Order: sequence, then C-alpha cells, then structure tokens
Amino acid sequence: MGKTLIKNIKGLVLAGENFPEKIKGKAMSELPVLENAYLALEDGYIVDYGKMEEWPGISDWTGLDIVDAENRYVLPAFCDSHTHTIFAASREGEFVDRIKGLTYEEIAKKGGGILNSARKLQTMSEKELFEKALKRVELLMSYGTGALEIKSGYGLTVEAEIKMLRVIKKLKEACPIEIKATFLGAHAFPLEYRENRKGYIDLIINEMLPIIEKESLADYIDVFCESNYFSVEEMEAILQAGKKIGLQPKVHVNQFTAIGGVPKAVELGALSVDHLEVLNEEDIEALKDSNTMPVILPSCSFFLGLPYGKARELMEADIPVALASDFNPGSTPSGNLEFVWSLACIKMKMTPEEALNALTINAAYAMGLSKTHGTISLGKKTPVILTKEIPSLAYIPYAFGDHLIETLVF
Ligand code: NIG
Ligand code: FE
Repeated sequence: MGKTLIKNIKGLVLAGENFPEKIKGKAMSELPVLENAYLALEDGYIVDYGKMEEWPGISDWTGLDIVDAENRYVLPAFCDSHTHTIFAASREGEFVDRIKGLTYEEIAKKGGGILNSARKLQTMSEKELFEKALKRVELLMSYGTGALEIKSGYGLTVEAEIKMLRVIKKLKEACPIEIKATFLGAHAFPLEYRENRKGYIDLIINEMLPIIEKESLADYIDVFCESNYFSVEEMEAILQAGKKIGLQPKVHVNQFTAIGGVPKAVELGALSVDHLEVLNEEDIEALKDSNTMPVILPSCSFFLGLPYGKARELMEADIPVALASDFNPGSTPSGNLEFVWSLACIKMKMTPEEALNALTINAAYAMGLSKTHGTISLGKKTPVILTKEIPSLAYIPYAFGDHLIETLVF
C-alpha cells in the first residue's frame, strides 16, 4: 500500500478506460499493450499510467516506492472466479486409485470424493481450517491471483457448511485481496440422505439459507447439477430459494454430462456456468447474448483426463469465455493460473491474448468485480502483476510449468 510508481515497464497490459464489462467472441483476440510505460498506484488504487515519455515526474509524492520494471510486464491481477480453497486434507490416495484404474465417479460412489472431504472437514475446528486456507491464499497470490472466489460445499451439514462460510468471512477480513463467498451446500447428497433427497434439499433451503442470510455469509449460490448429483429440477428449487435472499447463481454444470443445466441456469439469471467439459448446441444457443459467463476450468480436465472446454466454439459463436482454476483437493489440486493460461493455449487453442482476457476482464465479470478488477483503469482498486524478465508476453503460457510472476503489487 502507500504510493508506488512502476517505471520503465516493457509492456503495460490492458491499461485503458471505457472497457466493456466483458469481451466476447472475436474481440477476445485483441489485447492492448502500452510499451515503455509507467503506472502509479496509491493505497491500492490505480491513479495514473502512460508512456514513459509522457510521465509528468514526481511532484508531491513523499514516501514513494519506486519499482524499475525494465524488461518486465505489468498486467491486471488474475481473478480466480471458481475455487474450493477451504478443505481439511488433500486426497492423493484417490489420485493413486485413479492411476490404478478407478474413475472419479467410481471413487465417489464408494463414499470417496466430496464425501471423503466432508467427513474430514466436519471434525476440523474453524481455527485450523482458517489457518490452512490462509496459507493457500498466500500461495495463490504468489501465482498472480488478485481476487478469489471460494465455495463452501465440503460441509454438507448445517453446522459444517456454516463453519466453512464463516472461515471465508474471516479470510475476507484477513487477506489483502478481494474474496467472494459462494454457498455450495448442494455439492453432493450426504450418505444419510441418499434415499431422502428432498430431506437434504429442505435442509439447505429451510435451515442453511436462513442462517446465511442472517449472518450475511455468502455472495453467490452454487449447485453441482450433474447425473448422480443434483437434477435440473433440484437445482432450480435451490437456486430460486437462494435468489429470494439475494444470492445470484454461479453453478457447476456439464462436467460429465449435459442434462439441461446450462439453459436452466441462464434462464435463472446465473452470473456464470462453470466446467462445461461437455457442451451441446442447445447450451451454446442459451449462452448467446445472455448475461451468463461460461467459465472453463482446464486444470480439472488435465487432472481428471476429461475433454477440455470448447473455448473456440464459444468464441466463434460470439460468446465470451472466462478461465478459472477450480482449485480443490479432488479434481484440481493446483490453483496455479499461470498453468491454466498454458493449458488454455496448448489444449484449447486459445491465443495467449484470448486466454489473458479470459483470466482478467472476463474472470472479473464472473465474480461481480468488473468495477474494480480485470483491467488497469483509473480508479480501480486492483493489484497488478509484475512479471519476471521475459522476452514477450506469450512467453508466459509458452514456458509452461515455469514461474514467471515476480509479485503482486498493491
Ligand atoms: O468442481 N465437480 C464438483 N466439485 C469439484 C470437485 C470436488 C471434489 O472432488 O472434491 C469440482 O471439480
Ligand atoms: Fe468446482
């Protein structure tokens, strides 16, 4: 914080005024880069930027921090609009089971997967969960994540879901980056409700949501709409109840099968539909000219060996695309958005420019942060990424697995 001047920037990316709140289709291939530039921040706000030759010089700034960014780029911080950053324990045992031949679905049916995470989280104290999550947020920030959405969904009881959301609330207070909380009580049916699905949905609607409303514990509501999880009708009932207390939907859909969740979520005014490993014509039609952002999670496809989201088809249909990590212990144990950038280029044939728009401006939209994040614009309160010395911006996704983000600057 305080006053910071970054000078001699090789390329200042996405700096400008009057950007649209999301970029769609062909326009995603355009990425403004100001060469040999400076950027000034004051108390976290963008207060000035321009070409070095137009720099007005230092006037009355006392206590100024000066960063020389020669050969380095500055870009808006990545926004990670989809994560499950709060969990009790990693699940590498299931990873080994999958290597030996079991599928993700088979592991889940045996009581592993989300239910495995829920059992462990239910017995962990709020304090310990908070401490573990705080360390993870610090790690994510080192990858360039400057805004973070975090879901509940590993509680699956009233007490444990509320505990998770209280941890997120504490993280909001403790972390220097913007955090959004999403209630995902409908992540899986607990074993004791397998034969009584309505009973669990009633618990979500009649027990969890009232506490969430009373304590202002969530910004969004999510449902895992998928075969063997929540049906489209069940999703609708839960989302309608969430909307009544002001929670906009952001949903998990089309990870393994397309069962009509995308058109329904769009109809219900979802801010985003996330996953989309499977996508059909009806889904694409529903997304056209809608206010719903499709969010693709390529690290999940990478880790589970699923098809990659069809970013090119979406963009060709003049639809925007955002990218996120899906950081969680089961399907995506990495929250590294530099790697997501590489995967989007290598596996989904997005250009580096399209993928960066998807990680910044469109990702900010997918978490309701267009006014403050996603671009370097006057008055925005966003951290920026300072890269290491690199020959070009495309070098970052090209040199996959490398770590080319130097730091976040606030
Ligand atoms: O987004 N698909 C649903 N939820 C998570 C994974 C949950 C888990 O395996 O723990 C996801 O991939
Ligand atoms: Fe997820």
